[in-house]
Amino acid sequence: MIWNDSEQDLRTAAEQLRQGNLVAIPTETVYGLGANALDEAAVASIFRAKGRPADNPLIVHIADLKDIETYAYPNQWAYRLAERFWPGPLTMILPKKKMIPSIVSAGLESVALRFPAHPIAQKLIRYANCPIAAPSANVSGKPSGTTAQHVLHDFEDRISGVVDGGPCACGLESTVVSLLDDNPVLLRPGFITPQQLREVLPSLLIARGVEEELQKNEVVLSPGLAHKHYAPNAETIGLLGDAESAARYIKSQCITEPYAVMCFDGEEHFYDTSVILSYGRRGDARAQGEKLFETLRVLDDKQVKRIYINAEKCDGIGLAVYNRLLRSCGFQMIRV
Ligand code: TXA
Ligand code: MG
Repeated sequence: MIWNDSEQDLRTAAEQLRQGNLVAIPTETVYGLGANALDEAAVASIFRAKGRPADNPLIVHIADLKDIETYAYPNQWAYRLAERFWPGPLTMILPKKKMIPSIVSAGLESVALRFPAHPIAQKLIRYANCPIAAPSANVSGKPSGTTAQHVLHDFEDRISGVVDGGPCACGLESTVVSLLDDNPVLLRPGFITPQQLREVLPSLLIARGVEEELQKNEVVLSPGLAHKHYAPNAETIGLLGDAESAARYIKSQCITEPYAVMCFDGEEHFYDTSVILSYGRRGDARAQGEKLFETLRVLDDKQVKRIYINAEKCDGIGLAVYNRLLRSCGFQMIRV
């Protein structure tokens, strides 16, 4: 079922959420696979539908600032971040109150809270009159869903429906910051950049695992840092450098089977393959973020055995794009 943003459809979708059913909801980042966060059985069905490991906690979405105190124990930083960035693409990890079921937080004593900016998400939370637990709406390990069609592709038979809010504006999941102790830590980069966060949190650290692969047995600050993410079915290899060098590298591999290339806009002519898609201009991380998951999904449908992605490493939103690409290619990122 696809609902639109009419009052009637939103009331119907919200009622489904209230009753403990799964409803995919649009947000400004990516679509979320939503359920009533206070209903353990409903939350369990999110994990089943996604095939999500039980040790990976969910984000709880709220639509009223004061609910930060209903579900968590906020500190000064939390209030200041909320004032500056909420509603918006920022998730805060805070000590959890008891009323959040432990299945939501995967047994941790903390909870991830986000107040999304998308008006449809806000209405659904308010109409359902409960907080909504929602991971990104994709089968676990696969690229996140940024349109209602992506969601239906992954979950058609397993959800009550999706509310179609059009393509997501950011296209990348929210920035995640842990505020659990004296050292605020960036766990996942996103549309809200480290530079912006440091205006409020001058001592912000970036977690190990954001820009590099974790070593075996390394302490993980967020379960999400340890899991496989955003990976197409094909073997995916990142190439860090200019287009000419990337093309030369691919040629040197003497590949006999069809392969795909994901490159920057206007650089298609460097490559010698028919399966080629661009994902935004070099240097334009905002545009890249918007197209990234969509492009990975389209390439995955082409049935190639290997995908090469030309990547760059930049600050700001660029860190979020690089982080997603690094994971898409299982950290096989080659400097060319
Ligand atoms: O933009 C978004 O954040 C989207 C939309 C739907 O809001 N949601 C999303 O959820 O990306 P998900 O489940 O795909 O990613 C949530 C991340 C995971 O990496 C998870 O490990 C981390 O947040 N997380 C959740 N609760 C946590 C906690 N209590 N402590 C540490 N990390 C946590
Ligand atoms: Mg996800």
